[in-house]
Amino acid sequence: MKRKHSLVLVPLLGLSMALTACGDDSDSGSDSGSDSGGGGEAAGKIGVILPDTESSVRWESADRPALEAAFDEAGVDYDIQNAEGDAERMTQIADTMIGDGVTVLAIVNLDSESGAAIQEKAASQGVATIDYDRLTLGGSAEYYVSFDNTVVGELQGQGLADCLGDKKANIVYLNGSPTDNNATLFSEGAHSVLDEISNYTVVGEQAVPDWDNEEAATIFQQLYTAADGKVDGVLAANDGLAGAAISILEGNGQAGKVPVTGQDATVEGLQNVLAGTQCMTVYKSATQEAGALADAAIALVNGDEAETTGTTEDSEGGRDVPSILLEPQSITKDNVGDVIEDGGQKAEDVCTGDFADLCAEAGIS
Ligand code: BGC
Repeated sequence: MKRKHSLVLVPLLGLSMALTACGDDSDSGSDSGSDSGGGGEAAGKIGVILPDTESSVRWESADRPALEAAFDEAGVDYDIQNAEGDAERMTQIADTMIGDGVTVLAIVNLDSESGAAIQEKAASQGVATIDYDRLTLGGSAEYYVSFDNTVVGELQGQGLADCLGDKKANIVYLNGSPTDNNATLFSEGAHSVLDEISNYTVVGEQAVPDWDNEEAATIFQQLYTAADGKVDGVLAANDGLAGAAISILEGNGQAGKVPVTGQDATVEGLQNVLAGTQCMTVYKSATQEAGALADAAIALVNGDEAETTGTTEDSEGGRDVPSILLEPQSITKDNVGDVIEDGGQKAEDVCTGDFADLCAEAGIS
């Protein structure tokens, strides 16, 4: 799954690689979690603000290294920071980045309101913005780079249906943060599949504020108790929420008996899939997403238009946002190896301890 570069980027990449080979690279990671590098094309600098470290391990373990690799490959200067779940902090980081002269600012918003304010300020300073992964409703980003998030939800719904079969089943939904537009799309996608199956009944559904995994366990426990323990399937929006549900199911002797969905193909998620406590996860290649962001950002730096896959409606802002939407992949026990082959995780991280045998059984080495 190699990402495609737009034609305009080919000469640029050749040049940047030559410059990098000359030792012009100036990586300077620091304890504050910031990282800057590149230096091949002095023309611009790209700032990226990741949302947090807790709602999913993906941001630091998958996105950051993939973004660094994509920007390094393109030979562009960059600064990647993490807002640690604090919208005020994200605003401050954005201000600093704008002050430092970034040409393009990409954010994974913590909520649309603060995201839109950041984008408005950036625009007033002549800084172009990109929505990375999450659409900022009412925002002004030039591009939206993500996966097709409705399809993510559909894959989760279909995955759960495949695990449950068409028997009568009570389903609990553990949705993502109400401030994350993606969470709305995941839930809509899942409902569009599961609501069609008349044998299924929704016996509980709740959004988890900030995707907080600990709170998810409390919420799931409450929903489980309210349903009198009669829960046959769990639509959990990502691997972190899945882990929370699985811990409660474990306490009730139900782990592995009640299928649970997930997303992000994290190490823990893949291990749960191999162990059979999680029915599926959704793999979204960070290399692809970061590559698409780098392409769009560099197009903006150069005053070019990025190649898009279409537009996404921002119902709040009443505009169609030029978008690059990638294709997510459903992962079950049968194809965990695909994630590893694609470089999404390393076998040595997934196949530790007790999981070594399960990996061997699944043909992963
Ligand atoms: C992302 C997911 C992630 C979640 C929590 C969503 O916007 O698309 O991949 O698990 O946020 O960080």
